[in-house]
Amino acid sequence: MSASTLKARRDAVLGAGTPLFYDEPVTIVRGRGVELWDDAGRRYVDMYNNVPCVGHAHPRVVAAMQAQAGTLNVHSRYLHEGIVDYAERLVAKHHDGIEAVVFTCTGTEANEVALMMARAATGGRGIICTDAAYHGNSAEVGKLTRVDAGRNQSGAEVRSIPFPQRYRPLPGASSDAALTGLYLDRVQAAIDAFAADGVPFAGMLVCSILANEGLPDIPVDFMPRAAEMVRAAGGVFIADEVQSGFCRTGTWWGYHRTGFAPDIVSMGKPMGNGLPLAGAAASRAIVDAFRRDHRYFNTFASSPLQAAVGAAVLDVLDDEALADNAERVGALLRDRLRALQARYPRMGDVRGHGLFCGVEWVSDPDARTPDRDGAAWVVNRLKERGFLISNAGALGNVLKIRPPLVFEASHAEEFLGAFEAVLEEVHGAG
Ligand SMILES: Cc1ncc(COP(=O)(O)O)c(C=O)c1O
Repeated sequence: MSASTLKARRDAVLGAGTPLFYDEPVTIVRGRGVELWDDAGRRYVDMYNNVPCVGHAHPRVVAAMQAQAGTLNVHSRYLHEGIVDYAERLVAKHHDGIEAVVFTCTGTEANEVALMMARAATGGRGIICTDAAYHGNSAEVGKLTRVDAGRNQSGAEVRSIPFPQRYRPLPGASSDAALTGLYLDRVQAAIDAFAADGVPFAGMLVCSILANEGLPDIPVDFMPRAAEMVRAAGGVFIADEVQSGFCRTGTWWGYHRTGFAPDIVSMGKPMGNGLPLAGAAASRAIVDAFRRDHRYFNTFASSPLQAAVGAAVLDVLDDEALADNAERVGALLRDRLRALQARYPRMGDVRGHGLFCGVEWVSDPDARTPDRDGAAWVVNRLKERGFLISNAGALGNVLKIRPPLVFEASHAEEFLGAFEAVLEEVHGAG
């Protein structure tokens, strides 16, 4: 069937606005490792998908899924050792203050639970987020999406701060430490504003590496100092690890990279390598407070199937040393991208952690003018050459490079060759 016929049927049955990547969408039919194939047998290198973190169709994950699905899969209101084993292993991957977990099926639900935990533990309501955040699509978590930091937010239970960054920083700082101070002032101002409005404070929720904001370089010590400030005001600090967790950054958790220890963590996307599996974890006291206040039940969450698959993902991440791979191959990729940046100035900035790279695409490097359309053009050109990336970030102009963690140096070399050819097309055209 032609792509246009399938697209027309899709629009009719799923709704015309249903998101779809690329000007000419791809029909993917098969995947293995970091490779995908379309319906015409064309190969693509997947440099976007973090959900299949240990690679598409990893045999150990598939085997665990098959074995458990062929044995038992029920909802969570029975005793099952596999679930308890998995929960214990998962919390042990975190810092010592994370002791218990509530499983869910999506990152949105994990953040719902995280917010309920924060509110149950503190008795507060007010939550701080960043102004370019995305934490999920439910009515409650959706209140944290793209909250305009400049708008009057009086009375609201959600207040945003400008997301901390070095590339387009708040004006007036003479050093990185001073810049941190400016962003921390915004956190304090939000805390004070909740107090002035009579909204009791519950805490702050941020992605540990500000992935949706555009993966900025975060001014020094912002995260640990914001966490201290939030706790001093009686709140809890929540790390959204839905994108940054499970070895993506070359460390187990994004918060290891940005240097803080959260009170609550939400997890999702890579956790089940494609099986819907997510959760929020915290100290036993916080989880107990949540359980006391909420009779939370989630039919598909905390099932034997989720546990078997989640455990297989942990096994593969450890046995194949994928954090090390992310660190090593990611560093190589960024070094090489920076070398290209020196020759191709439309690459305004190259940054990231582990196997998560962001490239600012700008029309004027001196003015750092974001070029969203140009970034989308690059994404489409790379797709034509067989490499799948995307553009994202607060201004939509950041090339987002985030392959499965089994991405190897040879894949990076292949990609860099194609990317240079696209850069040549742009810069050659003036
Ligand atoms: C940082 C972050 N948190 C939470 C979510 C929501 O996860 P889900 O789509 O599984 O509900 C997303 C999804 O893109 C995300 O990027």
